[in-house]
Amino acid sequence: MRLVTLPGVFTPISDSRLLADCLRAEVHPGARVADLCTGSGLLAVVAACQGAAATAVDVSRRAVITARLNARLNGVRVRALRGDLLAPLDGERFDVIVSNPPYVPATTGGRAWAGGRDGRALIDRICDEAPGRLRPGGALLLVHSSVNGEAETLGRLAARGLRAEIVARRRGPLGPLMRERVSVRDEELLVVRGRLP
Ligand SMILES: C[S@@+](CC[C@H](N)C(=O)[O-])C[C@H]1O[C@@H](n2cnc3c(N)ncnc32)[C@H](O)[C@@H]1O
Repeated sequence: MRLVTLPGVFTPISDSRLLADCLRAEVHPGARVADLCTGSGLLAVVAACQGAAATAVDVSRRAVITARLNARLNGVRVRALRGDLLAPLDGERFDVIVSNPPYVPATTGGRAWAGGRDGRALIDRICDEAPGRLRPGGALLLVHSSVNGEAETLGRLAARGLRAEIVARRRGPLGPLMRERVSVRDEELLVVRGRLP
């Protein structure tokens, strides 16, 4: 896959790639997929390459332009919209909602990575808002760090009626942004799947 990023747009790293692998296993041709916090558009492009009808959303204008550019570079169609999480999608429902949101515990800094005091500001909103936008049998796929809390995410999704489980985990050293802000030395990247029965 060919990917470019405009200045200021998040360049995909290991969490993006781990989530992309899980997404490939979840998406079937014709599925409706929403990629929230799309950045470069990587996940939306992966879905579109699998034959999905993919929509990408980001608050950053540059990210939206980048996602359109990357769709074109890879010869697929992606609808890329600017806005806050599901807000621009006006009641639409999806077979898969995928997201790699900002989750570093930080209240200041880049909008691309700072996730509030405990890193859960966007994670919690996605857990609360996505279940109501899934089609029956549909799934939310979300990546975050073990630093953010695994049980909180699983519990929150279960409370909204989803069957929630960890479908991928990868242990590794903390990246530089996390290292400056938390006391542990390593973390697990977690891909959580919540499925609507
Ligand atoms: C960690 S990056 C992930 C990018 C991409 N999904 C990936 O895996 O490479 C997070 C992205 O979320 C976007 N973002 C932050 N807050 C948002 C919000 N409230 N709604 C939509 N996008 C948001 C940022 O602009 C940034 O592009």
